[in-house]
Amino acid sequence: MAENKIRVMIVDDIAETREQLRKLLSFDSDIEVVAMVGSGEEAIEVAAETFPDVTLMDVNLPGIDGITATGKLLEILPAVQVIMLSVQGESDYMRRAMMAGARDYLTKPPSADELLDAIHRMAKLKPRGTGMLTSGTGPLTAPGGVVTARQGKIITVFSPKGGSGCTTLAVNMAIALQNLVGQDTKVALIDASLQFGDVVIFMKIQPTRTIADLAPRAYEMDVELLNTVMVPHTSGLKVLAAPPTPEDADTLRSDGVDEGGGNRLLRAILEFTRQEFDYLIVDTAHAMDDVTLTLLDLSDMLLILTRPVIPEIRGARVFVELLQRMGYAMDKVGLVINCVDNKRMGIQPEAIERVMMPALVRIPLDERTALHAANYGVPFVLQDPHAPITQAINALAQTLNQRLGPEMENVAPNMESQPRRRGLGRLL
Ligand SMILES: Nc1ncnc2c1ncn2[C@@H]1O[C@H](COP(=O)(O)OP(=O)(O)O)[C@@H](O)[C@H]1O
Ligand SMILES: [Mg+2]
Repeated sequence: MAENKIRVMIVDDIAETREQLRKLLSFDSDIEVVAMVGSGEEAIEVAAETFPDVTLMDVNLPGIDGITATGKLLEILPAVQVIMLSVQGESDYMRRAMMAGARDYLTKPPSADELLDAIHRMAKLKPRGTGMLTSGTGPLTAPGGVVTARQGKIITVFSPKGGSGCTTLAVNMAIALQNLVGQDTKVALIDASLQFGDVVIFMKIQPTRTIADLAPRAYEMDVELLNTVMVPHTSGLKVLAAPPTPEDADTLRSDGVDEGGGNRLLRAILEFTRQEFDYLIVDTAHAMDDVTLTLLDLSDMLLILTRPVIPEIRGARVFVELLQRMGYAMDKVGLVINCVDNKRMGIQPEAIERVMMPALVRIPLDERTALHAANYGVPFVLQDPHAPITQAINALAQTLNQRLGPEMENVAPNMESQPRRRGLGRLL
C-alpha cells in the first residue's frame, strides 16, 4: 500500500513549523512525509532523490526564496505539485508564486482541513504536461526538439451591465480571429455565462453536450471527452456551450471556490482546454462572481465593454477601479466601446476614453445588421463582410493577434536550455 500514498516534502526554515506540519499530516494515512528540509537549495537536491508528489513550500527562506525555489524545482521535476505557504496573504506574493508554477497558496498557519484538502486536491490533478501527451494535434515541438505544452491565450469579454454587446462581440470576434489566423490555429469559443448563456443562439447551434457535462470530470479531462462536448461551427472554431438550464449551471459549482474565490471546476476545465487550443474566447455573465474571478486570474486579455451611455460607462469605470485596487495588471485590460453612434448622438467616445483609457476599438452602432444577425443566428462577420461593424471586429481580432500571437520564446534559439512550459503559469 505504501506506494499509493501521497508523497509530501515540507520546506520551511523553522524546525518547529516543519514539525507542526508533519504532525498535521500524520493524521492522514494516505499521506507520507518523505522529506523535511530547511532551504530552497536543499529542497531541489532532496526532491531529485525522493520524488515527492506534493511540496509544501514556505515563501520566506534563507538563500533562494520559496518562489525562486519553486521555479527551479519544477524545472527538474515538472510533475511536482507545489503548495505555497506564507504569512503574507498579499496578492502580489500569490501572483508571483503562481507564475513560478505553484498550484495553490495557503496562509500560515493553515488549518488541518485546509492543508489536507489542498494536498488531496493536488494529488488528484494530473501531473503537469500529461495533457499534451494525449493532445489531438500532438505536442508542440519547438526548434531544437524541445516539447512544449500548448498554453492557449484566454481572451475574456466582460461588462458589468447586460446588453452591452458581450455575446455579440465574443461570437463575431472568435470567428474573425479564426478567419485571420487560419485553420491550423485552433480557436475555441466558451460560453461562461453559465445561467443564461446564449452563444449558441447567436450561432444557430444545437448542442447535445455542454460545459455542464465536463463538470463531473473536470479533474480528469481528456481530449476525447473535450471533443465530444465541443461543437464545431462552420467557421472552423469550436464552441463550448453554456449549460441548458440555470439549474444545470449548479453542477459547475459543486466543488466550491478556491482561495482566491475562483470556481475550482471551471479553472480545471479551462486549464485543460487551453492546452488544446491556441485562443480561447470567453463570453461571460455580468457579475463579479466566482466565474469572473477565475477568468480574471486566467485571462491573457480582459476586454471590458461599454456602450456610450452613462450607467454603462459608470459600471465599466467602477469595475476598472476595482481591478486597480486588486493590483490587477492593467496591461491586460482592454476597453471596447460598442454602439458608437456616428451621428454623435450619445456620449462621445473621446470623453469615455478620457475618463478610462484609450479604447482598443470603437464598434459602430448598426442596429439593422446586429439585430438581423441575432435573430437569424448568423454572425454578421460572416453575413456582412464589408459592413463597418464587421471591419471594426476584424481590426480588433488583428490587434489581439498581434499582442498575443505566437510568442518569440517558442522560436527562440537555444531552446534546449529552456524549461518545459507548464500547464499553469499565466495567473494574473
Ligand atoms: N454594435 C451594435 N449595434 C447595434 N446593436 C448591437 C451592437 N452590438 C450588440 N447589439 C445588440 O444589442 C443586443 C445585446 O447584445 P448582447 O451581445 O446580447 O449583449 P450582452 O451579451 O452584453 O448582454 C443584441 O440584440 C445585439 O444584437
Ligand atoms: Mg450575453
